Order: sequence, then structure tokens, then C-alpha cells
Amino acid sequence: MLARAVRARTIVEFGTSFGISTLHLAAALRDNGGGRLIGSEFEPSKIARARANLGAAGLSDLVEIREGDALQTLARDLPDSIDLVLLDGAKSLYSPILSLLEGRLRGGALIVADNADDSPEYLARVRSASGDYLSVPFADDVELSMRSEAAAPGDGSLQAG
Ligand SMILES: C[S@@+](CC[C@H](N)C(=O)[O-])C[C@H]1O[C@@H](n2cnc3c(N)ncnc32)[C@H](O)[C@@H]1O
Repeated sequence: MLARAVRARTIVEFGTSFGISTLHLAAALRDNGGGRLIGSEFEPSKIARARANLGAAGLSDLVEIREGDALQTLARDLPDSIDLVLLDGAKSLYSPILSLLEGRLRGGALIVADNADDSPEYLARVRSASGDYLSVPFADDVELSMRSEAAAPGDGSLQAG
């Protein structure tokens, strides 16, 4: 629903596992007219299952799952602009992973962090008064944050123009 609401075309997922969340996000991309989802997962056997699930759903063309530590695999070759991020891997890495992606988040991009209560450093960052994010707890132990327009790349030139 969130991916549909922001008309996401580019999504990054930290922690793909068997790809259940990936199926929902890729289906939203399809509904939005297409796009690209970059997933990340340590375990090759889980990636194989996720790829099979995506194939069965006819969504493989929208998804690239990067194998290995997301700290490495999400440090390169990212889309210029990211519309939505799902954080669902190791909770201690939420803030470092956000740092990898932050420069590509468009103004209004959403970040959904599952079990965010286990990552106090991350919560402090997205809830800080810096104005970089608007953030609210959402559902059960999920934090929903939005990259502010003012903090996103390109906004300065918009204001100057
Ligand atoms: C809770 S599961 C993800 C569930 C999935 N998002 C879903 O909803 O269907 C977390 C996954 O993150 C993976 N993971 C944890 N830390 C990781 C890292 N640093 N790099 C890549 N994958 C990681 C784990 O192997 C595990 O499969």
C-alpha cells in the first residue's frame, strides 16, 4: 500500500530471506507501471527460494537480489533516486545501511523499518530534530519514516530556482 501510495519505481530491501515482502513490493512496482527492486540477502539457499517464489509470481523481471553482506552489496550500483526502502535485516545495521542509501533517497521517500525498537541508534537518527526525516511508530514495532524534501538531493537548486 505504501509503495503504491508514493508511486514507487525504485525500491531497496535490506534482508530478503524467502522473498515474501519482496513479492508484495514487486507486485506494487508492477501496479505502478514497472520499476526496479534491489534486494539483499546473506544466505544462498534463501535467495534460491526467493527467486523461485518471484518466478512463480511472474515478478522476476523487476527484482535483483544481491548475495552477500548488504554492507557491501548495497554500497554500489544504486539507482540515482530511491523511492522506498524496507529495512528488515540485522537490526544493528539499520543506521549504517541508511547511510549507504541516504544520498539517493528522493524527497518524500519512505523508509519502513521492521522491529525498529531493537535499533535505538536508528530510531534516534530518524526521530531527531534535525529535520532530515519525519518519523512515526507504526503498527507493531515498525517505524515509518519519510525523507524530508529539504534534506533530499536537488532540493537546494529547486529553492534557488
Ligand atoms: C526477517 S528476515 C527478512 C524477511 C523478509 N524481508 C520478508 O519479510 O519476507 C531477515 C533476513 O536478513 C538477512 N540478513 C541479515 N543481515 C544481513 C546482512 N548484513 N546482509 C544481507 N542479509 C542479511 C538474514 O539472512 C535474513 O534472511
